[in-house]
Amino acid sequence: KQRSFVMLKPDAVKRRLAGEVLTRFEKRGLKIIATKMMIIDSDLAKKHYGEHSEKPFFKDLVNYIISGPVLATVIEGEECISLIRKMVGATNPQEADLGTIRGDYAIDTGRNIIHASDSPASAAREISLFFEDSEICEYTLPDEELIYEEP
Ligand code: GTP
Ligand code: MG
Repeated sequence: KQRSFVMLKPDAVKRRLAGEVLTRFEKRGLKIIATKMMIIDSDLAKKHYGEHSEKPFFKDLVNYIISGPVLATVIEGEECISLIRKMVGATNPQEADLGTIRGDYAIDTGRNIIHASDSPASAAREISLFFEDSEICEYTLPDEELIYEEP
């Protein structure tokens, strides 16, 4: 099964939305296999968002992401990278559909509460940036046959 890196950004933590957002992933049937709260330093923030280093919003983005604690999380499930991106919604919350996380909880692109990996390659890169292998928990959900036709 696929793994995705999901990060609740400082605005999500400070707005006490962490539990509610994680609950959405749990209710969908996805499995949380690692999570930790941390205050990212600017080095890690710049590495994580390295692809945007030349963008005009890069400095604001780094300052936003280091402005408070984040909840770094690894989620596992069938095709979960694209599934989670759909649940997260468009980058600009104004364009995000209702029923998506950004569409339900956010207004501004620069305060869009959550990050999710956009491809298998970025998921692998981001998971290894934030987690040691020993911090990732492998376990079986007891109801996998209720979630998947072929568990
Ligand atoms: P992430 O899951 O956080 O990577 O968002 P995304 O994949 O939907 O968008 P993208 O990777 O293009 O941008 C990364 C993050 O940079 C966004 O989530 C925003 O927080 C921020 N960002 C992107 N575009 C803008 C912008 O035009 N202005 C500002 N202030 N922030 C932006
Ligand atoms: Mg992105």
